[in-house]
Amino acid sequence: MPKITESALRRLEKSARSAAARAYAPYSSFPVGAAVLGDSGKVYAGCNVENASYGLCNCAERTAIFSAIAAGERAIKAVAVYTPTPLPTAPCGACRQVIHEFGPDAIIVSVCDAKSRIETKLSALLPGAFGPGDLL
Ligand code: THU
Repeated sequence: MPKITESALRRLEKSARSAAARAYAPYSSFPVGAAVLGDSGKVYAGCNVENASYGLCNCAERTAIFSAIAAGERAIKAVAVYTPTPLPTAPCGACRQVIHEFGPDAIIVSVCDAKSRIETKLSALLPGAFGPGDLL
């Protein structure tokens, strides 16, 4: 696992929590916030952005990752996700695959409205992942 200080993780979690307030989730009423720690040390926040064409909904994690990549980051050290739930939730399968592209060793932290939290790594959530190295 990449070494990340406790204070960097706390900062990431805080950013994920506040990003949820900016979610556009009129269809699910399930606002999600995420934050990504790039290799540079910068934090990028994201929220879920839904669409009337439901299949086009974008998760908070991917919004945050795409924002980091668009800002010039090429590697991700950690991802925090906040859901307004009594138990923490791990990123969906699509987001795990997108995280793998830029952070196969990333730390994943999930926080919620209670004390309970998940702290794991991407490789535990997506073992045997397909990635850039598998292409010819
Ligand atoms: N959602 C996320 O933003 N992240 C996840 O990890 C799971 C689900 C969003 C997608 C959709 O806007 C809403 O939550 C309900 O699935």
